[in-house]
Amino acid sequence: MLTLGRIAEDPTVLTHRLNTATGPEIVLRPLTHGDAEPLSGFLQGLSRESRRFSTFAGHDLAAARELCDAIARYDKLRLVLEETPSGRVVGLLELSLGLTPGDIARYRAAGIGLVEGADCRFGPTLADDYQGRGVGTLVLPLVTDAVRRLGRSRIILWGGVLADNARAVRFYQKNGFRQVGSFVGPDGALSLDMLLDLGEEPARAAAGP
Ligand SMILES: CC(C)(COP(=O)(O)OP(=O)(O)OC[C@H]1O[C@@H](n2cnc3c(N)ncnc32)[C@H](O)[C@@H]1OP(=O)(O)O)[C@@H](O)C(=O)NCCC(=O)NCCS
Repeated sequence: MLTLGRIAEDPTVLTHRLNTATGPEIVLRPLTHGDAEPLSGFLQGLSRESRRFSTFAGHDLAAARELCDAIARYDKLRLVLEETPSGRVVGLLELSLGLTPGDIARYRAAGIGLVEGADCRFGPTLADDYQGRGVGTLVLPLVTDAVRRLGRSRIILWGGVLADNARAVRFYQKNGFRQVGSFVGPDGALSLDMLLDLGEEPARAAAGP
């Protein structure tokens, strides 16, 4: 089974080239300590709408450095989509192997018992010019493979998805996530809780050891 420590030691265990039909080549790989500059470029480039849909502690170099400093120190795994050869970061896919008491309580109210060690949280963000082009759908199987290799079998949305984020809701639905409930956040906005059950399928051979 993969661990966050092993991934930090050898990021190639989760590095994949995406099969995009057109456009520049894109590589999915774990965030590394040297990524602060391109990651801050990605965060700074996010539109106001994307920042509302995906929340980050900040969008500058300091915020990017914090994300890089967190590698293998907590329960988070961050993967980036990197355009090659430019080195531009065009996506950040965040996984948390830990659950919050709030998540556990909301899902329990919906009749679902979340289990530490079996469930994880997922939050994807693509650069604005990469949204709505099928890239999220292309990369999701690689994320689910990584999740399986980390010993997890279900994925919930990290902080839910805002109900008015129509593209993301459609993206999750078409990729097998089901809505299990809804909640109103501190700012009064309605969000949906969604869950993807990876079942008992074994990890695909292409995912490597
Ligand atoms: C959410 C996100 C990761 C999805 O990735 P993506 O590559 O854009 O998604 P895809 O292109 O694979 O799929 C999007 C689907 O939504 C549809 N769609 C696009 N815009 C839409 C809109 N305004 N309303 C409804 N559906 C829409 C697309 O047509 C496509 O569905 P289809 O294949 O049935 O036609 C990406 O859009 C993103 O980063 N958004 C900004 C940040 C965000 O919202 N993150 C999620 C936070 S919970």
